[in-house]
Amino acid sequence: MSIVYLNGEFLPIEQAKVSVLDRGFLFGDGVYEVIPVYGGHCLRLGEHLKRLQDSLDGIQLKNPLTIPQWEQALNELIEKNEGEDKSVYLQLSRGAAPVRDHLFPAQPRPTIFIMSNPLKPVSKETLRTGIKAVTLDDIRWQACNIKATALLANTLLKQQAASQGATEAILVRDGLATEGSASNLFIVIDGVIITPPIGPRLLPGITRDLILELAEANKLPHEVRDISEAELKSANEIWMTSSTKEIMPVIELDGKVLANAQPGPMWERMIDLYQAYKVKLRQGAE
Ligand code: PDD
Repeated sequence: MSIVYLNGEFLPIEQAKVSVLDRGFLFGDGVYEVIPVYGGHCLRLGEHLKRLQDSLDGIQLKNPLTIPQWEQALNELIEKNEGEDKSVYLQLSRGAAPVRDHLFPAQPRPTIFIMSNPLKPVSKETLRTGIKAVTLDDIRWQACNIKATALLANTLLKQQAASQGATEAILVRDGLATEGSASNLFIVIDGVIITPPIGPRLLPGITRDLILELAEANKLPHEVRDISEAELKSANEIWMTSSTKEIMPVIELDGKVLANAQPGPMWERMIDLYQAYKVKLRQGAE
């Protein structure tokens, strides 16, 4: 049975209840994180908690827990749930107010919720089959750097991609390809790994950062710069990255097959580096 954390208590998921007046429910007024856990070790916990703080600052909500308190709650929850690898979801909303009002309550009492889900191992062989992606206009707001729970636009985009037989939507704004509906974007052109710069157009992905670090440490040519839609369409390789999906090679874009539907050589290098990082993390060495 799955044990969750709700406002300081650990309890079975069926018993975890929040008010219908919770602003997370009424307004999508909250932020979240998804943290992969390998062999009991959180991947880049410090970075996830830092991004959580940035998201809270972005919505003007005070962090109700200190970093050691977050660490303790997360570690206890990880211990209480079964399974080797997990994906931990944590969310904070601005809590319930006595009446529905767009304005923030004067004294918000945030709702803190954490759950753990089993994370299926992602093998290189599974990833190798690749995914289909389609380009879609980015219909989201101007603060995509905030990891907000208000994900209606993202879900509509992902659903639209699915209705076109694709796994992910690559979003285009002002002629630039920015990220996926639930992932970051990398392309490879002439042996150079390229990803767009962080800013309000996209989420500063923790996986994205790790890939850039691995590229730097292993002297793989890489650039952080804008990617035009035209460049995306002529790229040698396209990857979509996220904590739970790791590095997914795109083998078809807008119905056009890329490189004989095979992931490219740079993906082969990077996925090996990424998986080696996970092995070290499991041993507690990262
Ligand atoms: N989403 N961009 C968007 C819009 C995302 O939703 C995500 C991840 C990412 C990748 O971020 P990271 O590498 O930190 O996982 C980029 C999570 C997994 C989700 O919503 O479930």
